[in-house]
Amino acid sequence: METLVTDSPVHAASFIAAGYPVAFPTETVYGLGANAFLPDAVGKIFIAKGRPADNPLIVHVGRHDDIDRVGSITNAYTRSLIESFFPGPLTIVVGRSPDVPLQVTAGLDTVGIRMPDHPIGRAFLLACDTPLAAPSANLSGRPSPTTWTAVYDDLNERVPCILNGGQSSVGLESTVVDCTGDRPVILRTGATSLEDIRDVVPTVVAAAEESDLGRSPGQLHRHYAPRATVILVDNISDLHPGKQAAYIGLESPASPGDKTLVCPDTSTYAFRLFDFFRQCERQGLTKIYCQMPPASGMGRALRDRLQRAAEATVQPRV
Ligand code: TXA
Ligand code: MG
Repeated sequence: METLVTDSPVHAASFIAAGYPVAFPTETVYGLGANAFLPDAVGKIFIAKGRPADNPLIVHVGRHDDIDRVGSITNAYTRSLIESFFPGPLTIVVGRSPDVPLQVTAGLDTVGIRMPDHPIGRAFLLACDTPLAAPSANLSGRPSPTTWTAVYDDLNERVPCILNGGQSSVGLESTVVDCTGDRPVILRTGATSLEDIRDVVPTVVAAAEESDLGRSPGQLHRHYAPRATVILVDNISDLHPGKQAAYIGLESPASPGDKTLVCPDTSTYAFRLFDFFRQCERQGLTKIYCQMPPASGMGRALRDRLQRAAEATVQPRV
């Protein structure tokens, strides 16, 4: 079955009502959503993506009233995070409501909740009139999609409908924060920076230890791999990418490769990265040199995605 692409949130919502998954735009990346309360519908997401069942999904809400239907907010700092960052690129991990099936949370007693900040994505969530469980709308292991065409490349004929909302304005996934303890712990770096969170909740910490990362199972899986070898470079003053190779970074390399993208700042780098990976694939390039950005603000999340993409291509892990 050919996938339908529509601009209409109401049309797309009719597929959700019928129990199917729909790819929809958010400001971070496109998601593949299904009614979060229906185990069968959620199961279709895992099949379409080829996603391991042990990797939990984030539940997306369109309005504040829906948060309590999905999880329980039990402390003051979580309320502050919601007030400051919803809608936006932040996912809170809190106690799971018994109404959310275990398929969504991969058996965990916690649930990730996020309210996207995208006019068409929000209109779609409101038209669905239910929270949607949704991972990024790529085949498992591939770069996250930031356009409907990227979704189509991975999932055509695997999902019935894609809602077109243009290019995602942030281009990199949300920050996932564990809010179950006495202070917030960042499980996945993302588009809301540590500095921004610290301004609101000064006690926030980044998960450094393996045991903390184990609490966010997705962190352990292979990720973001384009069909080209990703090579990380710190110093680019001597870099000559050469034939069949591309370069993306904040400064110009010594000589251009077959494709070069110099970004004015880390936000633009993040906004362009996943789309650049897919363009390189389409052009059949075999190597992508990526300059490592400084480890502050959005640079932290960007470094994490670049490292994972490089590990996944150089030493594929299954
Ligand atoms: O920006 C985003 O977060 C995008 C858009 C579509 O909202 N979604 C996204 O979903 O990136 P996904 O499934 O690709 O990544 C979700 C991450 C995974 O690393 C998963 O392990 C973690 O969130 N996660 C979800 N629920 C969790 C939970 N209850 N406890 C710990 N980690 C959780
Ligand atoms: Mg993903």
